[in-house]
Amino acid sequence: MSLILGIESSCDETSVAVVEDGSRVLSNVVATQIQRHAVFGGVVPELAAREHLIALMPVLEAALRESGTTLQDFSGIGVTNGPGLMPALLVGLNFAKGLSAANNLPLIPTNHFIAHIYGSFLDEDLTILKESSTYPILALVVSGGHSSLLLINDDGEARQIGFTIDDAAGEALDKAAKLLNLGYPGGPVIQKTASRGNPKAFNFPRPLTGTAGKATPPEHKYNFSFSGIKTALLYHVKKHQNELSEDFISDTAASFQEAVVDVLSRKAVAAAREFSARTIILCGGVACNQPLRDRMKLLCPHQTTLRIAQPKYCTDNAAMVAGLAWHSLQKIEPALGVDAFARLPVIIRVPFISGL
Ligand code: KG4
Ligand code: ZN
Repeated sequence: MSLILGIESSCDETSVAVVEDGSRVLSNVVATQIQRHAVFGGVVPELAAREHLIALMPVLEAALRESGTTLQDFSGIGVTNGPGLMPALLVGLNFAKGLSAANNLPLIPTNHFIAHIYGSFLDEDLTILKESSTYPILALVVSGGHSSLLLINDDGEARQIGFTIDDAAGEALDKAAKLLNLGYPGGPVIQKTASRGNPKAFNFPRPLTGTAGKATPPEHKYNFSFSGIKTALLYHVKKHQNELSEDFISDTAASFQEAVVDVLSRKAVAAAREFSARTIILCGGVACNQPLRDRMKLLCPHQTTLRIAQPKYCTDNAAMVAGLAWHSLQKIEPALGVDAFARLPVIIRVPFISGL
């Protein structure tokens, strides 16, 4: 049995978790800064960093208390070192370095994007990772920073077959909510407002899907673009500015959400078919969205297993970081020189599959 301490601070959630053998979550404490950033309508990086500084120690203490562990019990410390907001990442990374040095524990730098994918395996029996019937995996990662399709083979090799060419899906929902004066973060409040509206009331564009008489360039077959929907929303609101009733806002939110859900699900399912995926993974903060979860269940091909991360492992959390880090434990030297990175590098391997 080995325990990993996970630390996450890439955006506006401070989280520390204790995970046993890569899957059993003993504690996963998340302190959210949402209220601090809400007044600005989005995350302010320096403010996020200052909040992480304040929150990390009490969140660590709570995670240890809840799991009944002490720092002497761990085999290593997994920490998000990117992608994310640089000031925020550096706080968590340096905190982890201090803990690592003081307790002589290996430091395991962990990719936040891959950790989101790994979130769908938490609290699960990991033998599925060793079964050939699981592969290839197609992961749809949808969050405030990413809208990507990653294809993963049974030897751990990975290839990004789709990404957003402008805004991420969560970013589009956040901006839409701001435009409709619904508050922040946009995803949950758009979902709530949309539940009272008609998703067919207005027809928002579905960029790069070959609809509305516009052919999709082959290189964008599995790419996403959400800035056009956002602009369409802006014109829609301007056009109807004298009739912004509650019903109008609900119908607008429902129709906007429908366009996002339609594009994401349609592209993911088409890619799963083309690449004969045996598993589809839906993960990242936007994967909390109930209509998206329902649509993926509806459209998932019969021969394909759909894995959707539990909502608590969709939004940013340290359990996914600790779980993923466990797979790299044997390969890591104590590495205090580890740096942080803001942007997602090209992913060619995932560390949680060692080959069947
Ligand atoms: O994964 P996450 O917590 O942070 C990033 O790594 O970006 O994702 C945050 C994003 C935000 O854009 C938020 O609006 C969105 O996830 N989100 C949702 C829902 N809950 C959170 N989007 C749609 N529906 C939801 N229920
Ligand atoms: Zn995230």
